[in-house]
Amino acid sequence: MKMVDVHAHLTDQKFDDVEQVVARAEESGVGKIICSAYNLLSSQQAVDLSKRLNQVYANVGIHPENVEEWSEETIKNLENLSKNSKIVAIGEIGLDYYWRQDTKEKQKQIFVDQINLANKLNLPIVVHSREAMGDTIEILKNNRPNKESLLHCYSGSVESAKILMDLGFSFSFGGVVTFSNAKTAVEVVKSLPIEKILLETDCPYLTPVPFRGKRNEPKNVVYVADMIARIKNMTIEEVAEKTTENAKRLFGI
Ligand code: NI
Repeated sequence: MKMVDVHAHLTDQKFDDVEQVVARAEESGVGKIICSAYNLLSSQQAVDLSKRLNQVYANVGIHPENVEEWSEETIKNLENLSKNSKIVAIGEIGLDYYWRQDTKEKQKQIFVDQINLANKLNLPIVVHSREAMGDTIEILKNNRPNKESLLHCYSGSVESAKILMDLGFSFSFGGVVTFSNAKTAVEVVKSLPIEKILLETDCPYLTPVPFRGKRNEPKNVVYVADMIARIKNMTIEEVAEKTTENAKRLFGI
C-alpha cells in the first residue's frame, strides 16, 4: 500500500525527530508527505525540508491567523520560494473566523492575493476554512483557481461540498472522521465520489482514534484510510490506491 499524507506540519517544533517520523511513515505505507506552511518562516523551512528529505514535498503560504505578516515583500518571498521544484501548492490559505474575528477584511484580501499568486504560478491552492464557509465560497466563486485545488480538513456541510466540487475542489480528511461525534464529516465523505477524497493528518494536531491525546504523525494516515474505507464500503487498499491517484493528479507528485 502506498499512501500520501497531503497535509502535515513537519516543521512544527514537536518534530525534533523528523527523520525518524518520515522513516516510520514510509514503513507504514505513507511514502509521500506534503509539508504545509502557515507563515513565511515555516514556508522557508518546508522548502528546506523538501530539499533534504526525498519523501517530502511542500506548500508555501500565509495562514489567515498570520495576517500581520502580509506585505508586497511577502508576496515576492513566496514567489521566489515557489520556484523550487518540490513546491506543489500555495497553502494553507483561507479564512479563520474562529481564532480571528478582528481581521476579517484583511483575511479576505490576503486570501484573494494568494489565489492570484497561485494562478500566476499555475499552482493549486490548499484552503483552510473555519467558521467562514459562506465567505470562503463567495471568494472562490469570484476568484476561481486555475488548477484543481484542495479544501483541507473539510468541516462544512454536504451542500457546501457540492458547490465547492463544482468550483473544481477536492477534499482532504484527517483524524476528525475517526471521532465518535464526527457526524457531518461522515455524511460528507459518504456523499463525495472517491475521486474527490484525499488523506491528511494535519499533524501534530487532530490525532485519530486510537491515539487521541498523543502527538499525531503521518504514519497515522492509515487510520483515516481505514475509516474512509468503512464509510465508503471499500477495502483500505482501494482507498489507498484511489486517494494516492488523486494526490498525483492534483499535486503532480
Ligand atoms: Ni494545517
